Amino acid sequence: MAALSFGIFQYIGPNGTVGSAWQHPEDTSAEFTTLSHWTALAEKFDAAGLDFLFLADSYGFPALDGELLGAAVREGRGVPQGDPMPLVSALAAVTRRLGFIVTTSTTVEAPAANARRFATLDHFTDGRVGWNIVTGSSGATAAALMGKELISHDLRYDMADDYVDVNLTLWEGSWEDDALVRDKEAGVYADPEKVHLVHHDGPYFRTDGILNLPPSPQRTPLLVQAGASGRGRQFAGRNAEAVFVGGGEPATVARNVAGIRESAVAEGRPADSIRILVGALFITAPTSEEAWAKHAQMLELSTPEGAAAIYAGNTGVDLLALDPDRPIAQTSTEMGQSNLERYLGKDGKPAPLVRDILENFRRTGINGSVFVGSPEEVADQIEAFAAETGVDGYLVQPHLTPGTYDDLIELLLPVLRERGLAAPLAAPDAPPTTLRERLFPEGGPHLPATHRGHGFRAGR
Ligand SMILES: Cc1cc2nc3c(=O)[nH]c(=O)nc-3n(C[C@H](O)[C@H](O)[C@H](O)COP(=O)(O)O)c2cc1C
Repeated sequence: MAALSFGIFQYIGPNGTVGSAWQHPEDTSAEFTTLSHWTALAEKFDAAGLDFLFLADSYGFPALDGELLGAAVREGRGVPQGDPMPLVSALAAVTRRLGFIVTTSTTVEAPAANARRFATLDHFTDGRVGWNIVTGSSGATAAALMGKELISHDLRYDMADDYVDVNLTLWEGSWEDDALVRDKEAGVYADPEKVHLVHHDGPYFRTDGILNLPPSPQRTPLLVQAGASGRGRQFAGRNAEAVFVGGGEPATVARNVAGIRESAVAEGRPADSIRILVGALFITAPTSEEAWAKHAQMLELSTPEGAAAIYAGNTGVDLLALDPDRPIAQTSTEMGQSNLERYLGKDGKPAPLVRDILENFRRTGINGSVFVGSPEEVADQIEAFAAETGVDGYLVQPHLTPGTYDDLIELLLPVLRERGLAAPLAAPDAPPTTLRERLFPEGGPHLPATHRGHGFRAGR
């Protein structure tokens, strides 16, 4: 098996993936408002040769019918959550190779504002930035916060396609490659013949103007996506270069992976033009017994009320209000669909009961795969799951910060590297690459010719 990619999952708040981990004496995630907390983590990930740090984000928060969910506030789950964007420049300054994938929602800001901010960050990171394009989780609360109505699920994706096009038009279409002159003697900063006004008049968004910044190393940041509904997969096939999928049953993940690759092909792109990474939690320790003890301790910090609050915030479905002895009757939602579809019963299996769904969600969290054992056992699971599902890598979710990552770096990575499942550490004198080249070493820093955004290029 070729080397897998390994990214780190974090959001700007307390807690890991399962339960309210901030309470653990060794957990530092409650320091999330301190810059040094983040620079120390980024330096650690960079030194370990991990591919990127992914910063999740949402303006949404756990609430139902306009009421804030008390369990979420009490346990610090989904409330609070800070904006990841301001962090990235500071983290770029203390790292050399680590990529940064930052989430913004297509339902919040005007697309031209998003394009300008990412282009600026692509400069400041030397081309190490990626954009996780979401239509916004916990959509109802996010919409209300912005003073808007919740847009229906599929329409959000239709609008997101158009939103991406505005961004691509600005990134690719405004400046030709050699537009920047910077000739002090001649007094020419840029060649006016090679800086173009762009026009986009789409079904939902319009722009007439320029990206007011010379081309950055990648021009378009690495385009990432994380919604797994049918419409989400179609969006991925059209736009994404990397996709984060939730974990869970290997057969379900495999189907999801195949669906994403099919939608890329349907858009005229190669099936392997998308790197697919699965969210997973690795609980490891020198021995299997110690790892299982850590797992038990993790579950002690995970309450049904906290899990139900996160589930409700994500899907709009309150598991605590449903009959525990029946399956979920609802089969669709205008909020996030992945965590509803996950429990509808597939492959001829009966749909699970609400009490089992809650327990499964309490134990595995929003993305669903938990691997427990000694480093060799977890490496076996990592290899088997990737072989069975066809994923290209893992988005490593924390239980304890930084403990889960220390275990990954000190215990697991050496085993993965020995087996060729993780890329070797780069030589200290090897030049850093852009994030796009890191995930696609055979390509260049810009969007490949098979991506539709390539056609938006100025001067072609
Ligand atoms: C690993 C992973 C990370 C995600 N990160 C975010 C995030 O940062 N912000 C967000 O709003 N949604 C995030 N999502 C959720 C999806 O982007 C999407 O909003 C949700 O799955 C609903 O879309 P769907 O109905 O197409 O599944 C993430 C999902 C996964 C699997």
